[in-house]
This record gives sequence, C-alpha cells and structure tokens, in this order.
Amino acid sequence: YRGYDQKVVEGLAANAGVPVWNGLTTEWHPTQMLADILTVQENFNYDIKGKTLVFMGDAANNVARSLMVVCSKLGMNFVGCGPKDCWMDDELIKTCEGIAAENGCTVKCTDDVKDACTGADVIYTDVWVSMGEPVEVWAERINDLAAYQINQELMKIAGPKAVFMHCLPAYHDHKTTVGKEM
Ligand code: NVA
Repeated sequence: YRGYDQKVVEGLAANAGVPVWNGLTTEWHPTQMLADILTVQENFNYDIKGKTLVFMGDAANNVARSLMVVCSKLGMNFVGCGPKDCWMDDELIKTCEGIAAENGCTVKCTDDVKDACTGADVIYTDVWVSMGEPVEVWAERINDLAAYQINQELMKIAGPKAVFMHCLPAYHDHKTTVGKEM
C-alpha cells in the first residue's frame, strides 16, 4: 500500500489475511530504503559498515526517519542536518541510538552543515515539503531549508568518494510544472 496516513497501512495490516507492505506513508518509506541501500552498496563495493550518511534539509520527514533506522541497523552512521524544528523526535533518536550502539555506529542531529558533511560518504536530500503537509508551509520551508542546499561546494568537503542521493521527485528549479507552481 502506497498512501498517506500511517494508520491506514497499519489498519490494513491488522485486518488483511496477507502480508501488507508499506510502499510510503507520511511517517515512513521502507521500500525506498531497499533501493537506497542497494545503491549505497553498489557505490562502496558492498562495504557499507562505518560509512556516514548525511540527510540534509527536512531531517524529520518520512525518508529521513527511515534512513536513520536503516543506517542504525546496518552499521552506518546517520547524521540529520537541518534547522532545529526539522529534527526527529527524541524518542525515535533514542531508539535508534540503542540500535546503532549494537551495530557499532552512531546517529545524531545537527544544524551545523560543515560539521555534518565533512568527510561524509553519502549526502542525501528530499523535497522541501513532504506528503500530508499543508501548502501554506511552502514559503516558510524553502526559506528555512535554503541554507542546507547541497551544491558543489558542499560536495567538496565530503569524502573523496562521496555520492549525492535524492529519493525523488526533486523540485529544484522552474523546469517542471510543479516546480514552477512552487
Ligand atoms: N518525503 C517525500 C518522499 C517522496 C518519495 C514525500 O513525502 O513527499
């Protein structure tokens, strides 16, 4: 099920007689994680333990939350980098810190771009505003997240083999109808 509210997919799972896969909700995006980790593995010769993934921008959205979980489970360090009001909730961070400790890696949130990206292996970002959020937050969010833009300067301070990733869709210019509207 690819939908909106997490409660819907959980309701389906509780009542269906067959396994239910979460194909994307406002809270989680586990299927994206399968593709992303495969990409990271392919880029780092299947040696991903100890690598650092930095999520830039809206660091509490469905994709960022899922990345923090999957990194913790697979021994990759996770850094969520964005303004403080875009950080994950403490409870989720605590849970992931526990999982990460068992797998020899770390999780953290910061608003310090340089600190987050220096020597990083994967620099990842997503849309300004995620599904389920009101259209009214667009202007404010673009304003708040502009300082967390990934550009060539930022990629220069990352590790020598760093890769840039985005779960798509990406609205970073005026060349699409949606991008123009935004
Ligand atoms: N954070 C994005 C993910 C899209 C695949 C959204 O919810 O729109």
